[in-house]
Parts: sequence; C-alpha cells; structure tokens
Amino acid sequence: MNRVYIKTYGCQMNERDSEAVGAMLRGRGYSLVDNEHDADVVLLNTCSVRDQAEQKAIGKTGYLAKRKKTEPDFVLGIMGCMAQNRGTELVDKLPDLDLLVGTQKFHAIPDHLDNIIQTQKGLGPQPTTIVDLEEEEGSQNTIREHLSDDRQISAFVSIMQGCNMNCAFCIVPKTRGSERCRPIEEIVDEVEELAAKGTKEVTLLGQIVNSYGRREIPIRNKKSPFVQLLEKVQEVKGIERIRFTSPHPRGFKQDLVEAYRDLSKLCEYVHLPAQSGSNRMLKLMNRPYSRERYLEIVDGLRNAVPDMYFSTDIIVGFPGETDEEFEDTCSLFEEVAYDMAFIFKYSIRTGTPAASMGDQIPQEVKEARNHRLLDLLAKSSLARNESLIGTTQEVLIEGKAKRGELFQGKTRGYRNCLLPASDRLVGEIVQMKVNRATQSSLYGDLILSGIEEADTATLSNSH
Ligand code: 5AD
Repeated sequence: MNRVYIKTYGCQMNERDSEAVGAMLRGRGYSLVDNEHDADVVLLNTCSVRDQAEQKAIGKTGYLAKRKKTEPDFVLGIMGCMAQNRGTELVDKLPDLDLLVGTQKFHAIPDHLDNIIQTQKGLGPQPTTIVDLEEEEGSQNTIREHLSDDRQISAFVSIMQGCNMNCAFCIVPKTRGSERCRPIEEIVDEVEELAAKGTKEVTLLGQIVNSYGRREIPIRNKKSPFVQLLEKVQEVKGIERIRFTSPHPRGFKQDLVEAYRDLSKLCEYVHLPAQSGSNRMLKLMNRPYSRERYLEIVDGLRNAVPDMYFSTDIIVGFPGETDEEFEDTCSLFEEVAYDMAFIFKYSIRTGTPAASMGDQIPQEVKEARNHRLLDLLAKSSLARNESLIGTTQEVLIEGKAKRGELFQGKTRGYRNCLLPASDRLVGEIVQMKVNRATQSSLYGDLILSGIEEADTATLSNSH
C-alpha cells in the first residue's frame, strides 16, 4: 500500500485542505503516515504569504528530490498556494517534481497520484510532471471530507474560498482566486456530522468570513448571511463552542457584535487583523477603515461582552512606514491590550501593488519594530493571564500535554491551560481553578464534581 505524508505550511485553511486531501486519499486506499521517512509519497501543501514560507518549501522539495536517486518510485508533489503562485516556473526549478496542483484542484489529487503510480509500473506514458492549476467553478464545495471516523475534538470547517479584497501587500487574491461561498445547509450538515462523531468545537474558516454569502444570500432581520450562518451553527446539538477566523474590520457591523452577546456558543475571542495603527499606512495598504473605526469595533465588542479577548495581525515595515507611524501601531497595541498577535515583517510579494512602492524599509528596522511589538504583546498577554489567577475557567480538554503528566486544553478566550486530568476527560468541558499564569499558559486544578473526584482519585492512586 502506498504511504503518503502531507506536510502543511501556513494557515488553518491550508491545514483544513490537507485534512481533506488526506481523507480523499484514504478513501482511495492510500495510508497516511506522520513523517516523511516512512512515506513513498510526500505532498507539500504550501504557503505564499511571505517569501520565507516559499523558500522553506522550495528547500524541502530540493532535499526530498535527492531521494529519487536511490528510490526511483518515490513520489513528490507540491500543492496549494505556492503551486498556484509560481506555476510552471517551479517545474523548471525543481524538475524532479511529479505533481504540481493548485488551490482549486485539491480534489483531483487522488486521480493524479493513481496515474503517476500506474506510470511507474510501466502501465502509462513516460513520466513528466503533472501540472493542474486551473480555476474550477464550484471547487469550494469539494473541500468537505473529514479524516475517517477519528474523533476531532476541535475541527475546522471551511465556509468559503478566495478573497475579493485588494490589500496592497497580499498575494492571496492571486493564490486563492475570488470569493466563493458554500451554501449554509451544506456547512450545517458538515457541522452536524462532526458533532455526531464527537466534535465539541468548530472554527469556521474563510479569508474574510464576514463577507460570507454577501452576494448570494439576502440580509434577514437586519442580519448578514454570516450571522445567519452563526445562528444555524449555534443550533447544532453537541457543538459547545464556535469560533471563526478571520473577519475584516470593514463590514464588522452591529449584527456581528450582537452575535457575540446573544449566541451562547460563540466564544468571546476575536482575531481582528489591524495590520497597522497608522491611518496613512492603512490607506497605502488599501485597508478600507481607519484606526478610529477599528477602535470603535473593539469598544463595541467590549461593551457587548466585557470579557472579550482580542488577537490581531500586524505588518511592520510596510513601504514608507516612518518611526512615528510605527509608534501609532504601538499605541494601538497598548490601547487594545491584545491577548494574542501575529506580527509580520513586511515581505515583498511580486505582482502585488506594494512590491513596486518606493521606500522599502531596511531589514534591521523591521526586526527592531517586530521586537518592540513582541515585547508589548508579552506584557499585555501576561497581564491578562495574571488577572485570571484565582478565577474559575471553563476548559475544553484536548489531550495530554506534549511533555509531562499534565493535560492541555483551552478556555473560551483561547488561553492555553495545563492541568492534572484523566483520559476520560479528553473532549470534555471542565471547570478549572487558575492558580498560576505565564505569558502563554494558565496552570490550575480541576474543580471536581462527584464523578470526576472518583476518577482522579483512581488516577492518583495509580501513580
Ligand atoms: N508581508 C508580511 N505579512 C503579510 N501578510 C500578508 N501579506 C504579507 C506580506 N506581504 C500577513 C498579514 C495577514 C497575515 C495572514 O499575513 O498580516 O493578515
């Protein structure tokens, strides 16, 4: 049997796509393995959002291609965003590639692999690289299979593909195509199937989730299609927590703010990319909102849900960013007091408007700005975690922690928790009393109900 290893770079959307490809391959009789050494087929699901991500995948492909010298039947493929972005130029650079598949053709991978393997057995035409990068209408509806019957405590659900925004820095509209949404009923069916297999938490995924269905689905009772979708997912029995990523500040309207207040399963955590705290930068980035509007959304959410947690994406060193403009981002950081943030050094993406802007910022300035924000984040994130010491938090237990005897889980605010528990509690929501905090984690103890008491008593006896 052919053993496949899929290595994923980049965002949750990519992880979700890899899961779907994995499920399709299992359905064809391939087995999935969790490392490249045990695999006869390696597929790299790639990311193009920054140059570093592309370089990593290219480096890995070059390294893996050497295996073909000693193992002629070894199969190597690149799929996803970098395949779409760089196209056949990759085949020129990496002639040993067997397969190059774009973001709208994931579902064709099992057929392509079957063909490659037949060819190797001498049953097909001479081997060349198979290249499949076309756009395909309806491809958003092909990303639905989940990994076999394994239970996923927390699952990603892709609700749409593509992006219609034109952020000056961003390659995604090129790699993912324009916005296409899945029908509400199909998404809800998928969530119901997941719930039936024991999933407790779903994260709805899209490039800009609050644009979901904007053109296809009418507004009802002043509610956008995205909020209508959230309301439907709220009704699915067995699902206890709903998250989504990412919304755009543009179009983050009152109905979505109120959804946080009214939908009990919608966790009080929002990842709201700001990119910059400077209005001039936002304009140059082609981000259609101001710092003031962004802060208004933050205030609106805090008024609706006082316990709200905030996360963001920031780019430092966008072309022309002055020290003062960077200070505006620092002050935004302090004002919002982010619980989490992803801070990126601007990376030139050929073909995007920002690539040809003058006044590119030197690497050392980007590094320094990056560090400054990381320091601010460390402070606000630690302060938030310390403020939770002594409180009781609702924790969804995800499994054993990587190291040691503790179990690991998440609060509704997406704080990482470490606590003593038992296997029986994996996938359950428990109450944890927080007794220690670091910047990245909360440590605590279970608040025991009758049954858990008996269970942990057995647990401690066995140690
Ligand atoms: N350089 C640096 N960061 C980028 N991002 C997108 N494009 C670039 C780029 N060219 C960041 C943005 C986006 C996140 C997913 O990646 O912050 O929100």
